[in-house]
Amino acid sequence: MSASLNHAMIDDDQARAAQEYANHFGEPGFDDPSRLYIEQCYEGYTTENQETWQILFDRQMAYLADHASRTYLDGAKLINLRRDRIPPIEDINGRLKPMTGWQSRAVPGYLPAKSFFACLSRREFPTTIVIRPKESIDYLPEPDIFHDIFGHVPLHADPVFADFLQTYGLAALETDDSRHTERLARLFWFTVEFGLIREDGELKVYGSGLISSPGESKHSLRSDEVDRRPFDLETVCDTAFEIDHYQPILYVLDSFEQLRDAMQTYAERILDEVKVAGGA
Ligand SMILES: [Fe+2]
Repeated sequence: MSASLNHAMIDDDQARAAQEYANHFGEPGFDDPSRLYIEQCYEGYTTENQETWQILFDRQMAYLADHASRTYLDGAKLINLRRDRIPPIEDINGRLKPMTGWQSRAVPGYLPAKSFFACLSRREFPTTIVIRPKESIDYLPEPDIFHDIFGHVPLHADPVFADFLQTYGLAALETDDSRHTERLARLFWFTVEFGLIREDGELKVYGSGLISSPGESKHSLRSDEVDRRPFDLETVCDTAFEIDHYQPILYVLDSFEQLRDAMQTYAERILDEVKVAGGA
């Protein structure tokens, strides 16, 4: 099924060098996130790639108009997310950076955790540039540009979410405590990827895994099989998650301020521990 994934987009020396750097990130001399980034090479997208974007955009926006967080919907307008073409990352950044300082940066593929966190700590979002093949339009197990730009980036236009995500990156980058690393992975999963929020008494989706999934966005809001719990950072960090099927547990925010403030408190605790360990 993955035969028509447009690997030509990331099959060059620049992409190979960036991926090689990513694989060594954290080793001596490998600590510069800007070395992870590549050009989007926009002319590499095929007509079919563009059609895939448009089909996904139309189908998902029609649902999200009434079911996504208004912060997401406002953000999509602010960055000028459009149906008619895969977004040129430079166009997105031209609008996003003046608002919150965040930017999307193209990457060749999977980034090891520390390099990913280093990017977030600089308000840079590692962005997959390939798009899923048309025949796999409903499900792709790995991120693509629809997941990364359509799913994630609109929230980066919100100053509160923008602060939260950078604080997350700073804490995750600094800690070497595996207990915190596991807890932070869970926090990311249940908020950035699969978060729900209550707005004016109604449940809405904001997590990118829900935003970019036609099936799971509906399931997350409607299904009786989902245990929707009020967000509490400690509880979230203690909850294991499972991949490869619809999430049976989701956490519901009251506001993005709640998430930002809880993350700030947790980050201060983590960074204090790092300082103590470094000074011991
Ligand atoms: Fe994601």
